[in-house]
Amino acid sequence: MAALRIEGYVIVSADGMLADAHNVMPDELKFEGDKAFFTAALDRADLVLHGRNSYEDQPNSPRRKRIILTRKIDAIAPDPANPKATLWNPAGASFEAACSRAGVETGTVAVIGGPGVFGMFMDRYDEFWLSLAPHVHIPGGEPCFPGVPARSPQDILAAHGLRPGKPQMLDAAHEVSVTPWRRSP
Ligand SMILES: NC(=O)c1ccc[n+]([C@@H]2O[C@H](COP(=O)([O-])OP(=O)(O)OC[C@H]3O[C@@H](n4cnc5c(N)ncnc54)[C@H](OP(=O)(O)O)[C@@H]3O)[C@@H](O)[C@H]2O)c1
Repeated sequence: MAALRIEGYVIVSADGMLADAHNVMPDELKFEGDKAFFTAALDRADLVLHGRNSYEDQPNSPRRKRIILTRKIDAIAPDPANPKATLWNPAGASFEAACSRAGVETGTVAVIGGPGVFGMFMDRYDEFWLSLAPHVHIPGGEPCFPGVPARSPQDILAAHGLRPGKPQMLDAAHEVSVTPWRRSP
């Protein structure tokens, strides 16, 4: 079994968007039930990984070890702005090397975006938690994965060998649910 378990987390609109046309996550995609689910998942993770614009900005965020992708450095470097963060440029160093530098050799890595970062790990997720807000549409928004909207987020996860489990309701009033997509053995 691999030493690092990789999980993905995103909430998307009905049309597969994770942010609006200005690259901002709009309030209409924010639901208390999803926020609580996401917070608990990140509290359990050993490491959070994201692109420079996808910091989750929660009360517990400063306590979390994280890797931030950026092209401002060549390979791996400490983040001068955050003692718990490691900056990583995948062009110059492997994922495993970045995790090791962050002090995490085993455990769960939570990948939280943005789209290009989700795409990089598509063949490596052990589990991807796809939250869906079925009544929200963001025309012209930022697609959650490379390949959306030509294909749906679900089609892309399936094409990468992931299969849906039982959805959990996160917000009944808005019919927001999360579905775990797991790699078949
Ligand atoms: N709905 C959701 O669940 C959800 C989830 C995640 C994000 N979002 C939203 O989506 C938006 C952020 O998206 P974004 O497109 O800006 O993506 P992002 O991946 O957060 O940030 C892009 C930046 O990350 C760095 N980066 C990304 N891929 C890299 C690579 N392969 N190699 C090196 N550096 C890399 C680069 O930083 P440098 O410019 O420093 O080189 C790039 O400019 C935000 O509004 C965020 O709130 C929503």
